[in-house]
Amino acid sequence: MKIIQTPQEMSAFSAQMRRENKKIALVPTMGALHEGHLSLIDIAKKNSDITVVSIFVNPTQFGPNEDFSAYPRQLEEDAKACEGRGVDVVFAPLASSIYKKDASTCVVEEEISANLCGKSRPTHFRGVTTVVAILFNIVKPDVAVFGEKDAQQVSVIKRMVRDLFMDVEIIRAPLVRQENGLALSSRNKYLHGMQLETACRLSESLKVGKAMVEEGCRNIDRVKAAIVNSLAKSSRIRVIYVEIVDAETSLPVKELVPGKCRAAIAVWLDQTRLIDNMVL
Ligand code: PAJ
Repeated sequence: MKIIQTPQEMSAFSAQMRRENKKIALVPTMGALHEGHLSLIDIAKKNSDITVVSIFVNPTQFGPNEDFSAYPRQLEEDAKACEGRGVDVVFAPLASSIYKKDASTCVVEEEISANLCGKSRPTHFRGVTTVVAILFNIVKPDVAVFGEKDAQQVSVIKRMVRDLFMDVEIIRAPLVRQENGLALSSRNKYLHGMQLETACRLSESLKVGKAMVEEGCRNIDRVKAAIVNSLAKSSRIRVIYVEIVDAETSLPVKELVPGKCRAAIAVWLDQTRLIDNMVL
């Protein structure tokens, strides 16, 4: 496995692979890799000849009072995990090589990004679309794999790729959970003891919503209220949002159609911001 640190070397490697008619898959990550990320790598490998995993804690997607400096960084361990999973290249650039000091260009998706997480993190998706566009331009992948853990992110990226005629296929990978239901996340590293138990409330509450729909409820407000009530059973949890959206586009829906709608939630669990979602 190669570890590449400069955009120039990464582009040159990709160009060589394309000359050899190799299909390239990219799995963009911010590292602190867990089984959720590794499942994306498995999907990437099945859909390509060469799998590139980028590991880059992207400063522009963090707000001024967010956890950019606290975000876990463990490149050596991550590289080992990638090697064990058969990755061909880890691309781990320095922030200074991705963003020039006087960089003045960004990519903004304006509709989907305005909802859900975009309301409480107004500059977040601009950072995501910009860095993903940069990574696509450097790596020039044929396919890129994104996880349903960040369902809104997949919707935003798909819209960007469509609107800007980017020549890359986006694969949506299933959300990976622990046995107790907790969605795997690098931010779970911030949780300890009781907090880890409390975090299961997120998936529990989504299951409450899903069960209501399965039993025939089609009232969006009732399902939302049941999810909020279930979250409120823990005094450690403060709800940021609970919404029912279109499962594919992450846009608001007027009708609850089973299998086509997704409940999306964000909460504060003490000092940690957690998100989860489930198709209803
Ligand atoms: P990060 O949070 O590291 O996630 C990288 C990819 O792994 C994303 O596509 C995310 O949805 C996926 N992922 C994380 N946890 C998952 C889980 N439990 N099951 C399935 N997939 C999971 O998302 C980002 O980084 C960044 O915003 C990025 C796209 C890399 C741009 O900086």
